[in-house]
Amino acid sequence: MPRADGTNSKVYFNLRQEGNKITGTIRSTQFFYKISDSSIGSDGVITLTASMKDGKSDRTVKYEAKLVGDQLQLSTRRRPEDKPTESIARRVPDGEGAMPARLTLPALKKIPANGLAKTPPMGWNSWNLFKSRVNDEIVRGIADAMVTSGMRDAGYVYVNIDDTWEGERRDPQGNITTNSKFPDMKALADYVHNKGLKLGIYTSPGPNTCAGYEGTYGHEEQDAKTFAAWGIDYVKYDWCGARILYTDEEMPQVYQKFGEALQKTGRPILYSLCQYGRDDVWKWGPDVGGNAWRTTGDISDRWESMTRIGFSQSDLAQYAAPGHWNDPDMLEVGNGGMTADEYRTHMSLWSLLAAPLLAGNDIRNMSPETKSILMNPEVIAIDQDKAGKQGTRGPQQSDQEIWVRELADGARAIGIFNRGSAPADMTLKWADVGFSKPPAKVRDLWAHADVKAEGSEYKVTVPMHGVVLLRLK
Ligand code: GLA
Repeated sequence: MPRADGTNSKVYFNLRQEGNKITGTIRSTQFFYKISDSSIGSDGVITLTASMKDGKSDRTVKYEAKLVGDQLQLSTRRRPEDKPTESIARRVPDGEGAMPARLTLPALKKIPANGLAKTPPMGWNSWNLFKSRVNDEIVRGIADAMVTSGMRDAGYVYVNIDDTWEGERRDPQGNITTNSKFPDMKALADYVHNKGLKLGIYTSPGPNTCAGYEGTYGHEEQDAKTFAAWGIDYVKYDWCGARILYTDEEMPQVYQKFGEALQKTGRPILYSLCQYGRDDVWKWGPDVGGNAWRTTGDISDRWESMTRIGFSQSDLAQYAAPGHWNDPDMLEVGNGGMTADEYRTHMSLWSLLAAPLLAGNDIRNMSPETKSILMNPEVIAIDQDKAGKQGTRGPQQSDQEIWVRELADGARAIGIFNRGSAPADMTLKWADVGFSKPPAKVRDLWAHADVKAEGSEYKVTVPMHGVVLLRLK
C-alpha cells in the first residue's frame, strides 16, 4: 500500500492453488505465516487462515481474497468487529518476497566500551508523539525549540529521529536512502549540530523496521558508514523485522555485529538497543557495545502503562552503570494523557532509575507546567548523578512505595510514591532508608524547599498518583 512519503508498506503473498486448496506463505514486516486453512467459495472468494508459531508466540491472520485478472483483491480485519482493511496485491518478480537468508553471525566477544553515556542519555525522540508524521521541518523546529525553551541547557542534547525516515529503495551502490520527508539528512545534521545539539536515528537489524520501512539487514557496515558520514551521533537499533530470521538467543550476536560496525566508523555514536528486554539483554548489552537497552515493551501515555513499566524495574538495578543503562522507554511528559502529578511520578521514577531521559512531546509548544517537570534541575541532577547507581524499591505497603537511590556525595534520593486513587498520609522512617539519625539536610525537589528533619520520621500527604521526591544528606 502506498504511503504519503513515497514508500509502500508491503506484505508478500506466496500462494499456490491445488484443486480447492491454497497453500503457501505470507510474509509481513515482522512475521512469516504459513497458510493453515483455506477454502474457495462458489463466488470465487478465497478465505485464507495463516498462522505463525515461533515457540514464544502464536499468531493468526485471516484474509478474504479474490483473483481479478492479475490482481488479488484482499480484505482483512484484526478483530471480527473491525471494519475490513482492503488492499490490492500485484504480481512481483519471482523471489522478491522470498524469505531473506540468515546472515552469518559473528562469534561472541566483548567489544570495547565507546566511552559515551557516562550518565544516562538525555534528549528528545519523535516516536511517542509524531510517529510516522515526523519530517525534516518538525525536526528543525524541535531543534530550535530545544534551545529557546532551555531544554538543551537543561541537558537534553540528542534530537532523535525514530522510524519512518527511510527510503523505499537503496541506491545502486546499496546505500540506504531517505524518503520524501527527509530531503537531506546531512544538511539536517549540520543544522542540528549548529544548535549545539546531536542527531540520532533509528534502524533495525531486520530487512524491515517495525513500521515496515527499509532495515539494515545485510548492510551493517555500509549503514554505519552512511550514518557516520551524515553526522549521526546516536543509533537506536530495533529488533522488530529481525524476528523473522533469528531466535531471541541469537540477539547478542546480531547486536554485536552492528556494535562493531558502529565502532569501525571511528565516529562516537551512542548505541541504543531496542529489543524490549528479551533474552536478559541487561546481562550482555554492555559486551556488544550497547550504551542503553530497552527493558520493556513500548510505553504509552497512560498511567497504567507508565507505572507498569516504571515500578517493575527494581530488580535490574545491578545492571546499570556509567556507560550503559537500563532503558524503560521514553518520556510521555507533556503529551496530555496523564495529570501533572502522574507526570511528576513518571519523571521522578525515571530519575531514580537512572533512565535515559528522552522527552517524547512537542518541545515547540510546551505549557509552563510541562517545562517545570521536564526541566526541574534538581530532579535532572538525580537522574544524572555521576555514581550511576540505579535506585531500588524500599519499604512498600500496598499502593504506597518508597524508592531509594544512593548518590555520589553520600546523599540519597527518596521517592515517596502514592499509587493509590486517593491522597495518602505517608511516613518515611529515616532508619528505613539508611539514616540512623535525622539527616542534616532534607530537600523537597518538587517544592524546591528545604524540609526540617526531626525525630525518627517524616510525615507527608502525597496526592493520588503523586510523589514527594526528597534528597537526604
Ligand atoms: C518499536 C519500538 C518503538 C518505536 C517503533 C517504531 O515499537 O519499540 O520505540 O521505535 O518500533 O516503529
